[in-house]
Amino acid sequence: MKGMVFTELLGMAETAIGEESVDAILDELELTNDGAYSAVGNYPCRELMMIVGKISDRTGLPADRLQQMFGHHMLRRFSETYPQFFAGKTSLIDMLEAIESEVHVEVRKLYPDAELPCFATRRIGPSEMVMTYRSARPLEAFCHGLIEACATHFGTPAEVERRDIGNGAERAAEFRIRLSG
Ligand code: HEM
Repeated sequence: MKGMVFTELLGMAETAIGEESVDAILDELELTNDGAYSAVGNYPCRELMMIVGKISDRTGLPADRLQQMFGHHMLRRFSETYPQFFAGKTSLIDMLEAIESEVHVEVRKLYPDAELPCFATRRIGPSEMVMTYRSARPLEAFCHGLIEACATHFGTPAEVERRDIGNGAERAAEFRIRLSG
């Protein structure tokens, strides 16, 4: 997993629980470089899960909820750092359909070692779609937050319902997105 994902998670955590608490968490864990992540490096996703677990212990917030909040944070950061991926997208559905075929394709060109999920999208009608997530990493809740934050980005009121359909190491979730505005 790219270092930028780690630095963003730690940045979000510092704002929420303070730098000292974050340092204490990093000290408690056995991490690459003692948790001094470089944005351009690549680190095991397992370490991200360990950090989320510790933040969960400290805050009492479920790990799933933290991942979802992190998805919101990350989408805001992506929109600041990579505005070109949002430019020209006319709607939430347009954007979500472009993640697999366009956005992550460009991400892969920028970062050939990125570990990306697979998405399939299906339109149910003018105001409903299903987006299926598949990954080797357990980031369904992170994905949920990214999709919700995408709706916020486009100013589109939407309900995002998630159903986990993976088994064990093969993670998968179906997101039903209904425009409600
Ligand atoms: C438009 C801006 C976006 C950019 C620049 C972007 C880029 C990235 C990058 C760099 C990673 C990390 C890969 C790694 O750590 O090796 C990632 C992972 C991920 N992205 Fe995107 N992404 C964007 C939007 C989205 C959206 C809107 C979704 C949701 C539908 C999404 C779903 C995911 C998920 C779930 C992962 C975690 C990897 C996994 O679950 O296997 N991304 N993305």
